[in-house]
Amino acid sequence: MKVLSVASEIAPLVKTGGLADVVSALPLAIGNHGVEMRTLVPGYPVILDALGKGKQVLTEGNLFGGPVQVLYGTVGDQQLYVLDAAHLFYRGGGPYAAPDGYDWWDNPERFAALSWMGARLANEGQIHGWKPDVVQAHDWQAGLTPVYMQRLGASHSVGSVMTIHNIAFTGSAGAEMIHALRLPLEGYNEGGFEFYGRISMLKAGIAYSDRVNTVSPTYAQELRTPALGMGFDGILRYKGAHFSGILNGIDGDAWNPETDENIISYKVLRGKAKARAALVAEMGLAEDAPGPLCVGVSRLTDQKGMDLLLGALPRLLERGGQFVLLGSGSPAFEADFRAAAARAPDRVAVHIGYDEALAHRIIAGGDAILIPSRFEPCGLTQLYGLRYGTVPVVARTGGLADTVIASTFATQRAKAATGIVHVPGSLDALKGAIDDLCDLWAQPRLYQQMQRNGMKFPVGWDSSAADYAALFREAARTL
Ligand code: ADP
Ligand code: GLC
Repeated sequence: MKVLSVASEIAPLVKTGGLADVVSALPLAIGNHGVEMRTLVPGYPVILDALGKGKQVLTEGNLFGGPVQVLYGTVGDQQLYVLDAAHLFYRGGGPYAAPDGYDWWDNPERFAALSWMGARLANEGQIHGWKPDVVQAHDWQAGLTPVYMQRLGASHSVGSVMTIHNIAFTGSAGAEMIHALRLPLEGYNEGGFEFYGRISMLKAGIAYSDRVNTVSPTYAQELRTPALGMGFDGILRYKGAHFSGILNGIDGDAWNPETDENIISYKVLRGKAKARAALVAEMGLAEDAPGPLCVGVSRLTDQKGMDLLLGALPRLLERGGQFVLLGSGSPAFEADFRAAAARAPDRVAVHIGYDEALAHRIIAGGDAILIPSRFEPCGLTQLYGLRYGTVPVVARTGGLADTVIASTFATQRAKAATGIVHVPGSLDALKGAIDDLCDLWAQPRLYQQMQRNGMKFPVGWDSSAADYAALFREAARTL
C-alpha cells in the first residue's frame, strides 16, 4: 500500500514541535507493515538545499500568484515531494511567521498551495509513476487536501485521513476567500469548512476526509467534549467510529541513552549519574542541592502550563530542588523565566532558544521532567524522559495520561509506576505533585525503581505503526 503524507514540517530540516518528529518517524516505522510512504512538504530554502536537484513531477503556471513545480527526491532516508514555489516559500523567518514573529499574511494561500499539489499528486499519480492509495493530511496546513481531492476527482480512487496534532490551530481564513482558495461554495456550511463565520482549513480536513485521527486515545475522547474540543467537538462526535486516537512514538535511534552522542551515554542508572553531573556543571548549578534536578524542554505557551510552572517553582526551590529549562515562545514567559534564573543562579538555569543537542543533555541529566500542560494531544518529551530514566511529572490530560503510570501505593508495589500525575490546570495540584516528587526523591530505592520501570516502558513506534497501517487500509478505496 502507498500513502502520501502532506505536512508543513519534517524533522530535522524544519521543526517547530512534535509534528515534525512524527512526520519524519512514521514513514520509517510503517515500512515494516507493508506501507510505503512519501511526504509532500513546502519548498522552504533549507529543504530545497537538502534535496539538491530533484526530479520534476508536476508544474502549474500560476498557483496563488506565481509558477510552481513539485520535485521528487530522497533526503536521508525520506522520500520527499517538495513544492518549489518561490513566491510562497523563499522567505526568512519560521515556517509560519515572519522574522518579526507575526504570521505571514498569506498563510492560507501558502498552505492551500501545499494541499492543492497534494491533491494533484494523488489525482495524477498514474502519470508520474506513483499513485497513492491514501493521502494523510497533517493539521490545518494540509487540511484542504481532501476538499481538493474531491474537487479534482481523486477521491473516487484515493482515500484520505486527516491527522490532528493540535486542535488549537484552526487554519482560519476570511469567508470572502472561498473563490480565491478554489473552494466549493456549497462546502461553506456547518457540516463543511465553515467555522464561526470564517473558513477553517482544519475543519475542512475533518469534514472531507474518510477517516480522522489524533495522536492519543485520551485526546480523541477529550476532543469530543465541549471543554476541550475548542468548537470542533460537534463535528468530531458526528464522525463516530471514523475518528480515533493513535499514540505517537519516538525515534528510538535519536533518543537512545545507550548510544546518544550528545551526552555521556548510559545503560543503567549508575551511568545516568554522570550525565546529571555534567548537566549540573554545564549549567553552573550548585552540586550539593538536597532535592531533585527537574528539567523542561518546551514551547513556552499557555498550552504547556508555563504560568503554572512559574508559580510552582518557589515550592520546588523550598524543597531543595533545582530547575533547568530550555524553551522559547511567548516573550512574557521568556522574561519571567530569565528573571527566575537571575534570582537563584545556583538553582535555576534557563536557556531561551532552540537547541536539539542541549535538549538531549538536559533530558538525560534531569532527575525529573515537568510537563504541566493544560491540554496535550500526545507530548513527546515525557516519552524521552521515560527512556532516559528522567521521571515525568505530568498533568492528567491527553497523551500524558496515556503514557505515564501514576505513582500510587499499588503501582509502586507492582513495579509499574513510572511518574507523577496531577490534575491539569491547577497550581495547587502542581505544587502537590512537586511535593510528591520530593518525597519520593528522599527514598532512593523507590525512586530508582520508578526510573527503571520507566526505562522499560515501550515508547517506540511498533504498535502505533501497525495501528496507522490498519487505519490507512480502512481509508483506502481499493484494498
Ligand atoms: P509540541 O509539539 O506541542 O511542541 P511535543 O512534546 O509533541 O510538543 O514536541 C515537542 C518537540 O520539540 C520535542 O521533540 C522537543 O524535544 C522539541 N523541543 C521543544 N522545544 C525545544 C527547544 N527549545 N529546543 C530543542 N527542542 C525543543
Ligand atoms: C502537537 C501537540 C503535541 C504532539 C505533537 C505531535 O504539537 O501539541 O502534544 O505530541 O503535535 O503529534
